[in-house]
Amino acid sequence: MVVFLIIPVLIIGLLWRIFGKSTKKDIAKKHVVIIGGSSGIGKSLAILAARKNAHVTIIARNIDKLSEAITDIKKNALNLKEQTISYVSVDVSNFEDTENNLCEIEETVGPIYMLVNCAGFAVCGELEKFSVNDIKSLINVNLLGSIYPIKAIIPKFKQRREGIILLTGSQVSLFGLYGYSVYSSCKFAIRGLAESIYMELKPYNITVTLALPPDTDTPGYEKENQTKPEETVRLSEMGDLFQPEDVAQKMLEDALAGKFFSHIGLSSFLMTTLCKGMAPFTSSFQVIFESILIGLLRLIGAFYISRFHKIVQFCHNKKENGKLKQKVC
Ligand SMILES: *[C@@H]1O[C@H](CO)[C@@H](O)[C@H](O)[C@H]1NC(C)=O
Ligand SMILES: *[C@@H]1O[C@H](CO)[C@@H](O)[C@H](O)[C@H]1NC(C)=O
Repeated sequence: MVVFLIIPVLIIGLLWRIFGKSTKKDIAKKHVVIIGGSSGIGKSLAILAARKNAHVTIIARNIDKLSEAITDIKKNALNLKEQTISYVSVDVSNFEDTENNLCEIEETVGPIYMLVNCAGFAVCGELEKFSVNDIKSLINVNLLGSIYPIKAIIPKFKQRREGIILLTGSQVSLFGLYGYSVYSSCKFAIRGLAESIYMELKPYNITVTLALPPDTDTPGYEKENQTKPEETVRLSEMGDLFQPEDVAQKMLEDALAGKFFSHIGLSSFLMTTLCKGMAPFTSSFQVIFESILIGLLRLIGAFYISRFHKIVQFCHNKKENGKLKQKVC
């Protein structure tokens, strides 16, 4: 009799231990810095942080966009009288400039508790068509612009034995796609960065979260869309377009829960799970679940990859036929 009671209790207790651990960190009255906070996902995240009573500093290059965004963020502040909502114009691909400015805002606003990096932009196209300048500026903004602010903030986080770092990768951090050679290189690199610093910073009570958002309806996406070759447009059409508010909400929740990956939507969940490999994990229960799922996901992934290649081949044939017709005429 007793055994029948004990077993369910043990199971529930075990589940409770596993699920009950997800205590969320709180950013109220803490200083949150958002790089790339003047538009898109970064701006949505700044608004959410302001609603949670955090002190918010947004960083970007363009002062007009920054001051415009600040007005919106202030409107959403929970308690504007006691919150500091400000902006700084910084080029985060310049290390000295970044380090000095982060020091300065710590002095004026207070110690940084959470560093969010949403700065980035995409240019699509076949690799041979890129100008060397475009390649360099993609790497500067997307990759160095992620490494430098983190390098500058780590000594402070380590000293204080606390801190949250939220990095923005992409679904193309997980797999390459036609037209994304340079952008995807940067985003793969950001995954390597996130996994490495996760290991370096864990003993210091600093958490690292890597967000892998799918296509999101932002001003940046609109610009990116204009550079897409036909192949890339057709491939993108296979996925959904998400709203920046929803993506930002999910990213913030996952970062405050201390999760390593943050993704939104079913197909991003499937792709992220499939590609987890040697990535860090925060729940043993989840690892068991994933290890059962991954074999099956490889099959589903293969189905998608075959479709991707068919689309590319279709466009290729179309172009070749076009050339033939031109020659005939
Ligand atoms: C870890 O950081 C959290 C805040 O992020 C803090 O509440 C907690 O006390 C810290 N733990 C240790 C052991 O320093
Ligand atoms: C992206 O561009 C394609 C055409 O190149 C267009 O059909 C589509 O509506 C655009 N999507 C967005 C979200 O701007």
